[in-house]
Amino acid sequence: MTDDVAVRVDHVSKSFRLYHERNQTIKSAIMRGRTSVHEDFWALKDVTFDVPRGSTFGLIGSNGSGKSTLLKCLANIYFPNKGTIEHFGKIAAMLEVGSGFHTELSGRENIFLNGSILGMSKKEIASKYDEIVAFSGVEQFIDQPVKNYSSGMYVRLGFAIAINVDPDILVVDEVLAVGDAEFQAKCFTKFRDLRAAGKTVILVSHSMATVKEMCDQAAWINHGELMTVGPAADTIQAYEKSLTGGPEG
Ligand SMILES: Nc1ncnc2c1ncn2[C@@H]1O[C@H](COP(=O)(O)OP(=O)(O)OP(=O)(O)O)[C@@H](O)[C@H]1O
Ligand SMILES: [Mg+2]
Repeated sequence: MTDDVAVRVDHVSKSFRLYHERNQTIKSAIMRGRTSVHEDFWALKDVTFDVPRGSTFGLIGSNGSGKSTLLKCLANIYFPNKGTIEHFGKIAAMLEVGSGFHTELSGRENIFLNGSILGMSKKEIASKYDEIVAFSGVEQFIDQPVKNYSSGMYVRLGFAIAINVDPDILVVDEVLAVGDAEFQAKCFTKFRDLRAAGKTVILVSHSMATVKEMCDQAAWINHGELMTVGPAADTIQAYEKSLTGGPEG
């Protein structure tokens, strides 16, 4: 059964502590002693779904609904408070713009740093270096510190590294939107190649056109809860309906 599953999200809940009284004085902190004032905010509530192996899977939902939190749980950056996530295969993630980059280092140094974080040997990275740089299209600036890169250049380089790790499962947050049309087209071609090679792609997007075009299935998250999961067109329809007609719309 698990042969058909790339990622299994099983009753996952994730909370963050929201602290109040940010501008407290040292005196008031001492007076209060060890107790701190916080509330638990549940960013994900009992989310369960499977991502089929070899599929392209979309995650949609309004700002702050928990999509990035879920991707970070998938990428082992966050740990769920409850529930489990299993992934079957090597995972590479492209999260927010610049995450995983060291801003003072050059593009070249970041390729080696990032590649090794993602599990490639130095030799392996060296052999893929030219391909990474070519895909990124930033060769002219490869020896500049990445803090001087534009957001599109960041994403190009980050994406070029992530796909060259040759992951079984590629997780992409809403970052491709900052790339230009030519780069986006290149990425979509790459997604199709990955899919044809039996790899799994999980992507967050606010572009329903992208999700409709790219994804087999999609999940809609609303206030941390899974509302719908199924064929992308059906999930998009449910989400869009809630925006125009629902009680919260
Ligand atoms: N490290 C954190 N500490 C506290 N709260 C957090 C943290 N990370 C996320 N949150 C909260 O969790 C909720 C979900 O955030 P998340 O980034 O997952 O939303 P999102 O669906 O990705 O939104 P967007 O479409 O704007 O990217 C938000 O209310 C956010 O404030
Ligand atoms: Mg997000």
